[in-house]
Amino acid sequence: MENPVQRIRSLTELLNRYAYEYYTLDTPSVPDAEYDKLFRELQALEAEYPQYREKDSPTQRVGGQPLAGFDSVVHTVPMLSLNNAFSPQDENGVFDHTEMLAFDERIKSGLSGVEYEYVIEPKFDGLAVSLLYQNGVLVQAATRGDGSTGEDVTQNVRTISNVPLRLQGSNVPEMIEVRGEVLMLKADFAALNAKQEAEGQKIFANPRNAAAGSLRQLDSRITARRRLHFFAYGIARIEGGNTCSEHSKELAYLSTLGFSLPHGNFGCFDNIGSVLAFYETVSARRAELPYEIDGMVVKVNSLAQQDMLGYISRAPRWAIAHKFPAEEALTVVEAIDVQVGRTGAVTPVARLKPVFVGGVTVTNATLHNEGEARRKDVREGDTVVVRRAGDVIPEVVRIVPERRPMIVQSVDAGGQPDLFGEKDNTVGQVPKYPPYSLPASCPICGSGIEREEGEAVARCSGGMLCQAQRAQGLIHFASRKAMDIEGLGQKQIEALVAQDLVRHFADIYRLNVPILQRMKENGTVEETDTVKTEAQKKSSPTKWAENILAGIETSKTPDLARFLFALGIRHVGERTAKVLAQAFGSLERVRRAPEPLLACLPDIGGVVAHSVAQFFASPEQNTMLDDLLAVGVLPKSQPVVLNPAEYAAPQRWLARLPDFKLSETRAAALWDLAGCSVEGLLHDKALPIEWQQWRSQLKNKVLLEQIQNFLTEILSEGGQQMVSDGLSDKVVGKTFVLTGTLSNLKRDEAQAMIEAAGGKVSGSVSKKTDYVVAGEAAGSKLEKARSLGIAVLDEGGLLALLQS
Ligand code: IVH
Repeated sequence: MENPVQRIRSLTELLNRYAYEYYTLDTPSVPDAEYDKLFRELQALEAEYPQYREKDSPTQRVGGQPLAGFDSVVHTVPMLSLNNAFSPQDENGVFDHTEMLAFDERIKSGLSGVEYEYVIEPKFDGLAVSLLYQNGVLVQAATRGDGSTGEDVTQNVRTISNVPLRLQGSNVPEMIEVRGEVLMLKADFAALNAKQEAEGQKIFANPRNAAAGSLRQLDSRITARRRLHFFAYGIARIEGGNTCSEHSKELAYLSTLGFSLPHGNFGCFDNIGSVLAFYETVSARRAELPYEIDGMVVKVNSLAQQDMLGYISRAPRWAIAHKFPAEEALTVVEAIDVQVGRTGAVTPVARLKPVFVGGVTVTNATLHNEGEARRKDVREGDTVVVRRAGDVIPEVVRIVPERRPMIVQSVDAGGQPDLFGEKDNTVGQVPKYPPYSLPASCPICGSGIEREEGEAVARCSGGMLCQAQRAQGLIHFASRKAMDIEGLGQKQIEALVAQDLVRHFADIYRLNVPILQRMKENGTVEETDTVKTEAQKKSSPTKWAENILAGIETSKTPDLARFLFALGIRHVGERTAKVLAQAFGSLERVRRAPEPLLACLPDIGGVVAHSVAQFFASPEQNTMLDDLLAVGVLPKSQPVVLNPAEYAAPQRWLARLPDFKLSETRAAALWDLAGCSVEGLLHDKALPIEWQQWRSQLKNKVLLEQIQNFLTEILSEGGQQMVSDGLSDKVVGKTFVLTGTLSNLKRDEAQAMIEAAGGKVSGSVSKKTDYVVAGEAAGSKLEKARSLGIAVLDEGGLLALLQS
């Protein structure tokens, strides 16, 4: 038996190790309940023997008594700032890297011709802190303050889960001061704001503010409840530990001491060209990082060279913050219109005074739906924060209330406009514009706008009568991931629809040169090439139309999955379309698939199955499909790669019958009772009375027969093909995750190849992942794969596997 002192010591050590595995490595070795049990044991022991509590006790992570104020801490090594460099983008998104090239020139001349290397890190958008460890134990944490003097936030920093309270590894220095950034992950930020909102508390504008507000709490118990993270980016001083010659080695050393390093492949680069290429990749993909960064920090790697270069005023000459284009900007809402989408969804859109944000000029931003517009209380005339991050659609984040246009008016006692002058008038300020509400009818076709109960989205009820819906549906049909009709883009389709030259999908295949010419003459569509080559000038005047017709012609034999996706069936995205194609192999069969079997398919639930079945049951859609086949569109059939014996096992489809609720366990029992046959289900007189009642309805009886026939058909064929296909069992049914940029294949090409070979592609790495395919700049997914011991392939490895 350990005595209390020993027990306290060993529990402290053990719990700190578990916390490191959990928060820093992301690979917990014990269940949460075990951690909690040991934690409570330690708490109890410490309450009994407070004199034995260790300095690095994990119980201190929950925070302590509130402080009256923060003490100040003088930084022995000042906390400096970084100079910034920007790379403005032109309207085509091309970066101008002049400032970075000038930085590189300064380095080159400062090092008078000696070779050098850069190391790149994220420019974290949080708060700088400095952590002091004596003999491996965290003794002080301070904010940056003015760089010379900061605030003592030790109690608060102790609550941050991935800050080591005691350093680990075999090479713990006597003293080390680690510099890094405290921040809040995007997911934690979203959860915090949701909680704050539910409790009627202050909403934070961004993760940075939330992190700052949380770290600078006098009551560390509040800090403990806010999930913060710390990422190390440097060593300010060290005694009696590793001495490193390079910054990248310092980072690796910090990692061995137990610190979290940034996600992503922020490695070393030996020339400015690859630094800039990496910047462009990260700039486009920063949304994938779990935290916000506002640029990259580019540092000269060699510490001797850093010394040689030195400092100017309060910033190092050997480093620079290469900032990304701002993702948020202020502008004014000039009007609020609505946009009608393919499914009739009516979206309010703010028309904005043009503003440069996220690297492009933004003139519209989505307000998502009426509820959102009202929740944010966006009105005409408002000054708003717009955000455009990565490739996402620009959105209005919030309004700036103090800039709302107001007018002076008589108001009643409640501060509302006193329209009838009945009350004792006072003069007050009221908003110039009323709160937003959707129009009652569709601005395009005049049909009513309706909202189903419980749905946030309102829809135009005009269906294919509505020109906007027709156009959107056709644009989707022709788009790259659908029928991929080259030459028939948004502009052409909008013109064809506006002139009523095309109404339905099949009309596209009836286009000819005269119709296209009419479209052009009436119209609005320009040829894409304004500068003509000699060859083009000589070619026939209808060459452009012939090109479109050639594009239409080649689209006539699409893959089944693309075709199904192109139809624009509600809830059927690319992934669902692929599952349908893999399960049934031909359009003809997808059209006949009974709803309970659809609902059995992987990734397809009741709602999606119902939507698919409804689509193929609709007379209008059947006419449309037959019409498409009649004009010569012929989706390619493909082998059945999903095994019906698995996904459509009897208890699975029985549990998905309409108007008969049954768990799979009970369904299995019913199947047994019926002698394991549909015959039995249909006729056996000994089955439960509820079942007999259900099957006595003609439509249900017919449904059972359809299911039986359909299954017999695909079971016989599916079975044969799946064997004869000879697909590698290293790929069939396996889950792949793609990350980073592959050298030759585009991401969707790689995905298509994997799926064609019977594999699945998922977006996130988990224990169920079989392979991670990592390209250049692969990030946290690759790290996670490594930590979970999942096979990692590069592009060559993937191709070899698919061919094997
Ligand atoms: S190094 C002498 N590396 O940027 C070099 N700073 O403008 C000092 N920051 O207050 C800093 N990410 O909080 C460095 N990877 C990184 C950084 C980083 C964010 C912050 C830091 C500092 C500010 C300087």
